[in-house]
Amino acid sequence: MDGNGRWAKQRGLPRLEGHRRGVETVRTVTDAAREMGIRYITLYAFSVENWRRPAEEVSGLMGLLDYFLKRELDTLIKNKVRLHTIGRTEDLPANVQRELNRVKAATAGFTEWNLVLALNYGARTEAADAARAYATAVRDGREKLEDCSWERFNRYLYTADIPEPDLLIRTSGETRISNFLMLQLAYAELIFTPTLWPEFGKSDLQAAVDEYNKRERRFGLTSEQIKAGTK
Ligand code: IPE
Ligand code: MG
Repeated sequence: MDGNGRWAKQRGLPRLEGHRRGVETVRTVTDAAREMGIRYITLYAFSVENWRRPAEEVSGLMGLLDYFLKRELDTLIKNKVRLHTIGRTEDLPANVQRELNRVKAATAGFTEWNLVLALNYGARTEAADAARAYATAVRDGREKLEDCSWERFNRYLYTADIPEPDLLIRTSGETRISNFLMLQLAYAELIFTPTLWPEFGKSDLQAAVDEYNKRERRFGLTSEQIKAGTK
């Protein structure tokens, strides 16, 4: 979700106003995704690097997160959407952690629709946390060092119970990954759109999915193998 600040600046508004508009886009996009049958949607809401923004912006973003969780709880339950988080949520403000736990607990029984919020997330931090967790498991006799493979290691990532993304969309014209799900995106299709996040809507999501559907995903195989249905 990129471009909130620029959206606000273009209108002579404070950056936080862009973030406020960005929260409305979250509702629009998650509703549209569900209508389109997308069962998992992950939003990069706050990175481990974002703490270094001006203190006023950081506290504004935390306030918006708290507001979003309070406001969306009923809708998530009504639509049977389970909330997940990835990232070091233990370093978020106590009130935000409380809301997160409340919404996660209230939606824990849902399986079909899933909203994943990346909060205080960084792919490098995740890799380090996973390495530590795997090493701890080896030390405690729950894993064997010689068994370490991607299939086993990936269970120690924050995304252990979330499938790998098929499609990544980054808004606002930036063509970077910026420390987002770097291992999980290995075979994802990447789409970069100039649209700023506050202006991203259902038709933009549909356009990205249409583009995704035109691509041939080969996973290292040849086009001929894919066409012949090689698994
Ligand atoms: C939102 O957009 C990203 C969040 C951290 C929520 P930005 O705040 O990065 O907007 P730009 O890049 O300044 O336009
Ligand atoms: Mg940005």
